[in-house]
Amino acid sequence: MRNFLTDGLKKLRAPVSDPASVSKKGQLSARVVAVAAQKGGVGKTTTTVNLACALALCHGKRVLVVDVDPQGHVASSLRESVRIAGASLSDVLLSATPRDLMDAVSQSDVENLCLTPPDKALNETDARLSSRVGREYVLQAAMQSARTLFDVILIDCPPNLGNLTLNALVAADEVLIPCDMSILAFEGVADLLATVQVVNERLRHPLGVLGIVRTRVDGRTQQINDAIGSALADNYREHLLDTRIPVNSALARAQAAGQSIFQFAPTSKGALAYRVLADEFEARHRARTTTPSRATAKAHR
Ligand SMILES: Nc1ncnc2c1ncn2[C@@H]1O[C@H](COP(=O)(O)OP(=O)(O)OP(=O)(O)O)[C@@H](O)[C@H]1O
Ligand SMILES: [Mg+2]
Repeated sequence: MRNFLTDGLKKLRAPVSDPASVSKKGQLSARVVAVAAQKGGVGKTTTTVNLACALALCHGKRVLVVDVDPQGHVASSLRESVRIAGASLSDVLLSATPRDLMDAVSQSDVENLCLTPPDKALNETDARLSSRVGREYVLQAAMQSARTLFDVILIDCPPNLGNLTLNALVAADEVLIPCDMSILAFEGVADLLATVQVVNERLRHPLGVLGIVRTRVDGRTQQINDAIGSALADNYREHLLDTRIPVNSALARAQAAGQSIFQFAPTSKGALAYRVLADEFEARHRARTTTPSRATAKAHR
């Protein structure tokens, strides 16, 4: 496995272009973002995969996607581009001795993009983690060397707030919340933000909110879009991203074909929207890293 990765990772170790991703110790320090929402089917995986590809292809970032969802939809969404090998995420999370997440990382054919394999056993792993002391910190500990090898790490979460999602939130610097134009997704945002507060206060991890991205926006249902859009703006204005991901059948067809939207339909509305999201993702990061003090940065979250 290590051999398989060596060539790809050599490329990843090339000099960083973005000085904001270099930590004080001079090591590369990835920006880790969990893509999470309690409601199923709101576009978490579609967003994770296509945002990752946009950051890798359009911004030249070295990107790792970590799939902590037992459904394993990241690898199936990109199955035309990956040769999965190595350990599973369950092997890493349940190891009796500390284990490196890099043992479970595979290179993809998409330039600059790596990912962890699909792992159906994660369902059982979630339950088995319940009896472990420090169960919320396992992924964070395993991710230390990955943080030095990538610019961005995106974690695709399952549609619940179980141990795997908590591990993702504690391993992350920020959370990105996809919200489709439904009342149930809107209500789920409050639950997730309450969990972010638990992570901040009880687990003492300074998790920020990157933003809420409106997904599956259907131009034919203007009234409900306006209602949910206003509710999001009234309640979470500071978190609401400008980018809206439209309903676009090419996104669903790309997933079915096992390709990112940039491989499948690079000029589609979906591809354009995820490119715009990647631009906003980068712009928000630049705005934060140029903010003078930590206290000010926190107030902006
Ligand atoms: N903008 C979009 N336009 C059209 N179809 C979409 C869009 N976003 C997602 N889909 C489709 O909706 C379905 C659910 O999307 P996705 O798998 O990304 O959701 P999810 O939140 O990850 O689901 P889960 O909670 O089960 O993990 C998929 O079939 C996907 O192809
Ligand atoms: Mg998913």
